[in-house]
Amino acid sequence: MVDLIKKAAAALKESKFNVVFTGAGVSVESGIPPFRGATGLWSKYDPKVLDLDYFHDYPDDAWFYIREIFYDFFGKARPNEAHRVIARMEQEGLLKCVITQNIDNLHQEAGSKVVYEFHGNSQILVCPKCGNKIPVGKVDLKTIPPRCNHDGTVLKPDFIFFGEGIPEAAYLNSFEAARNAEVFMIIGTTGEVMPASIVPQEAKRRGALIIEINPEKSLYTNDITDIYLPGKAGEVMTEIEKYLF
Ligand code: APR
Repeated sequence: MVDLIKKAAAALKESKFNVVFTGAGVSVESGIPPFRGATGLWSKYDPKVLDLDYFHDYPDDAWFYIREIFYDFFGKARPNEAHRVIARMEQEGLLKCVITQNIDNLHQEAGSKVVYEFHGNSQILVCPKCGNKIPVGKVDLKTIPPRCNHDGTVLKPDFIFFGEGIPEAAYLNSFEAARNAEVFMIIGTTGEVMPASIVPQEAKRRGALIIEINPEKSLYTNDITDIYLPGKAGEVMTEIEKYLF
């Protein structure tokens, strides 16, 4: 494994355009469970709570679970070593951007500046009617569903529900970065959810070297991955860090 770590670090140092693409696995060492797999959130909660129609038809029920999953539980999570090394790579000029499927804001909290949030962010609530955006810290979630103080409409977390479109800027910036990447590092994702899962495919198609970190194989591993580093994001990234700086 050390040889693979060294090979990955050498490629990242030599490249002029590195991109990191993350999924739920990068936040598991922060205490946030993944969505899929034996301990995944979808084995405990019904994904319908993130269905846009269900949210509009049953806002009380949807918000009960959204609060439990994304605010009561996620809210206490802090960035882990993987988030820290990724932010350091950007600070030291070794990373152009992070494309993340995560909504937990942990890349930003670790210091990453250029973060394309393919599925939005849980830290902001938005009024579907008037567009009013409120930091979740300014909303009392003891009373659910939270309502817009302008027009009383039920507020929605500013992350993507099933059935919702991807934020246009994040979509365009992510594919632009994938097209320009010389090294594209995939960390902690099954690669099962479209259209996010197409971004690494585009990087590969345009000639990027694909490095993947995941304790289990994903849909990418036997397909587009060039250097597969089997392991936990925080552990592997701290190993790579030793050979980067
Ligand atoms: N380090 C790295 N990877 C890990 C770790 C870890 N410590 N622990 C688990 N993983 C890997 C798992 O092996 C799995 O491949 O993280 C991945 C988590 O997969 P998912 O739970 O499917 O998460 P993700 O791929 O990000 O899901 C994509 O699906 O439900 C939607 O919108 C949601 O953004 C999410 C999207």
